[in-house]
Amino acid sequence: MKRVVTALFTFAVAASAHADVAATYASKCAACHGKAGQGAKMAPKPIAGLPAAEVKKAIAEGKGKMKPVKIEDADGVAAYVAGLK
Ligand code: HEC
Repeated sequence: MKRVVTALFTFAVAASAHADVAATYASKCAACHGKAGQGAKMAPKPIAGLPAAEVKKAIAEGKGKMKPVKIEDADGVAAYVAGLK
């Protein structure tokens, strides 16, 4: 029984962490990069599926016309973007 509870708890934590980075992406990135990282008016080039390290770098240092973005979970959002598509 204890094991089941632990497994459920782990799952719940993982699921809510994912929801958080998705929400962060939606509020901090989607306006320029599209809901699914497919690109939008501001930044037409898709970012979905880019390696997490590149995404993290863009968040931290900016890229071209993009300014660095201050977010708490840059690693999580980078992984989220890398997993999009
Ligand atoms: C104000 C608009 C804006 C916001 C907000 C924004 N970006 Fe960008 N981003 C851009 C633009 C414009 C570029 C393209 C830069 C260039 O090529 O000149 C870019 C480039 C990038 C790139 C590099 C793409 C490549 O081809 O190398 C990544 C990765 C990226 N953004 C991720 C993010 C993430 C993740 C967030 C949210 C934390 C975010 N951006 C928020 C406008 C934005």
